[in-house]
Amino acid sequence: QAGLKYFGAATDSPGQRERAGLEASYAQYDETMWKSGEFGQTTPTNGMKWLFTEPEQNVFNFTEGEIVANKAKKENHLLRCHNLVWHTQLAPWVKTTNWNNANLTDIITDHINPDASHWKGHCYAWDVVNEALNEDGTYRPSVFYNVLGEDYIAHAFRVAASVDPRAKLYYNDYNLESPGNKSEAAVGIVRKLRAEGVRIDGIGMQAHLTAESHPTLDQHVAVIKSYADAGVEVALTELDVRITLPATAEKLELQKQAYKNLVGACVQVKACVGVTLWDWYDPFSWVPAVFPGQGAPLPWFDNFTHHPAYDGIVEAL
Ligand code: XIL
Repeated sequence: QAGLKYFGAATDSPGQRERAGLEASYAQYDETMWKSGEFGQTTPTNGMKWLFTEPEQNVFNFTEGEIVANKAKKENHLLRCHNLVWHTQLAPWVKTTNWNNANLTDIITDHINPDASHWKGHCYAWDVVNEALNEDGTYRPSVFYNVLGEDYIAHAFRVAASVDPRAKLYYNDYNLESPGNKSEAAVGIVRKLRAEGVRIDGIGMQAHLTAESHPTLDQHVAVIKSYADAGVEVALTELDVRITLPATAEKLELQKQAYKNLVGACVQVKACVGVTLWDWYDPFSWVPAVFPGQGAPLPWFDNFTHHPAYDGIVEAL
């Protein structure tokens, strides 16, 4: 783990996994997750999202998030908290009401205040705003953007900063792993917030890659440096590398290279503080459900043996 503050893996609460129909040997899973020394950090994959934390207006429920957060505390894992404002896994009541500028601003304030207060002091970082950008670098339409315009981002960061002065505040998105319109727009968000005196501390590169076409080490290094130049730290927040099934030896080798490039780039650039796998065990990955025909994205196979990618990560660290 030279060069990184942490290397970790996200995990779901057992209840969430069961509801999703994901079964496995929990004893062996928990041993590797918490006791093996493989990971020093975790993120709850679902439990801190709006859908779970404020399912109805002003009705807060921290149960799911606490399962993972409490475990992290007990086992001494650093905690990344995910997330405060996102258009997906948003409680239906937020999506279905016709808000105006004033009341939607209050909704965001009244969500972030209790939510971030609840975990205050426990979060190394918060993903304050998740996935606000389109691939071409424009803002993504969402209930927040459609009503408030881009100012919802600054507002969310302001509220988060006022609640938890110690947590690092991140903008988090996918396809930020190589230079392009989207990475430039992320830098634009940082510069804009800073120009307005709003605190933002990090850019989270979700890092959901594909084995068969992945960026080069140089592209990763260049983009991470562009974030560092904007004055923020960087993290790989949801790393996985999916394969078009079947996972042949050849594709597993491409996957290894993809992991090695990206983790290696993070290790090389000082501003890149850490790596989080989006779970670590194939059967618990979100990939097959969302990308039909793709899978095997994590370094551990169903039978708990290692992908070649495991060695790629070790070589990079
Ligand atoms: C995913 C979870 O892993 C799944 O269990 C859930 O059904 C959908 O969301 N980007 C993010 C994460 O920021 O929150 C998403 O997590 C994956 C994509």
